[in-house]
Amino acid sequence: MKHPFEFGGVISAAHFINRKSELDLLEKNFISGQNTILISPRRWGKSSLVNRAAVIVAERHKSFRIIKLDLLAIRTEGEFLEAYLSATLKALGRTIEKSLKLLREVASILVPKLTFSAGPDAQMKVGVDWKQAVQNKSEILELPQRLAEKYKLQVVVAIDEFQGIAELVDVNNFDAVLRTIWQHHQNVCYCLYGSKRHMMLALFTSYSAPFYHFGDTHVLEKISREHWVGYIVDRFERFNKQISNEVASWLASAAEDHSHYVQQVAQIAYGLSNVDCTQETAETAFNQLIYQLEPFFSEQVSSLSRTQLGFLAAVLNGEVAFSSSRVLKKYNLGTSANASKLKVVMQEKEIIQLTRSGEFEFVDPLFKAWYSRR
Ligand SMILES: Nc1ncnc2c1ncn2[C@@H]1O[C@H](COP(=O)(O)OP(=O)(O)OP(=O)(O)O)[C@@H](O)[C@H]1O
Ligand SMILES: [Mg+2]
Repeated sequence: MKHPFEFGGVISAAHFINRKSELDLLEKNFISGQNTILISPRRWGKSSLVNRAAVIVAERHKSFRIIKLDLLAIRTEGEFLEAYLSATLKALGRTIEKSLKLLREVASILVPKLTFSAGPDAQMKVGVDWKQAVQNKSEILELPQRLAEKYKLQVVVAIDEFQGIAELVDVNNFDAVLRTIWQHHQNVCYCLYGSKRHMMLALFTSYSAPFYHFGDTHVLEKISREHWVGYIVDRFERFNKQISNEVASWLASAAEDHSHYVQQVAQIAYGLSNVDCTQETAETAFNQLIYQLEPFFSEQVSSLSRTQLGFLAAVLNGEVAFSSSRVLKKYNLGTSANASKLKVVMQEKEIIQLTRSGEFEFVDPLFKAWYSRR
């Protein structure tokens, strides 16, 4: 452990804090074969949570296999199917010989090339050409169920950034194809998670969508302040420096308990501290973080129209009645129809989101802090 804090990817077990109720829920759903849908804004810790749950379940229940894939870089149906086949074989076959044997036993897919790279990030790569993968679509999608049945296993298919399924460039209604096949699976359950809230909600909660009522749907909460405070104080101590509960709490609150930002700002504060992290050091750390992020935020703002910027200012000032003539005039939002459109567009851009209590808030707390200083 070289750094006191960790950010920029799936968190390691040693740094993973809390999420106890979420881990219990996932374990329970995996064991009972319940499909789960998980939504949260970026960098709150979805991937870390599902990964941790997968490790725990695999350790405790020997008949479990978790097939994991991420749709972030996947653009076409063929790429999806190739990744699906690779992930399935990696989780269930584990070695090339065993994978080829499995394929011969339960499917008639011809795989000309299988490569396996060793090491902690072991990759199983399947060399099927995409046309061929598309021709064998249903065989590939049925594979987890067939293998689970034959080998008496319970299988979880966990797909990260699942909203990408609606954006494959060369195929329409692929979600309907998946739903049709998946809903018959008795020994496989699906854990589908993603960060684009409006797209995820459209896939799973709109009445006409194929995935309507597909599973147990949850919007992830933030990790609470008390857990962050305990964690920050402990990490400073382990690395021979100190921070008080109050200053640690100030850091977490400045980052609005946003998982990635709390870790990042705490890392900067640790670096700036001689031995003791004072309130002043914490504030300098927060300013440094905003300074680091400034180029990204400037770019984001430069792509927004005047009315969109007006809308952001209104959200920042805590306005709620966006269609009232006072707000329309004060922030130059145009007509009330325009204000309604702005709400939709700004959510689609993932800049603002609705809270549980029905108000708008900035998705990115550092963007909010930066914008409010302008
Ligand atoms: N349980 C946790 N304990 C401590 N830190 C966490 C935890 N979960 C997430 N984090 C912090 O948040 C960062 C982002 O986590 P993760 O990548 O899992 O989020 P995500 O929601 O999948 O993000 P993305 O939208 O980028 O895919 C991690 O790198 C880590 O710094
Ligand atoms: Mg993720």
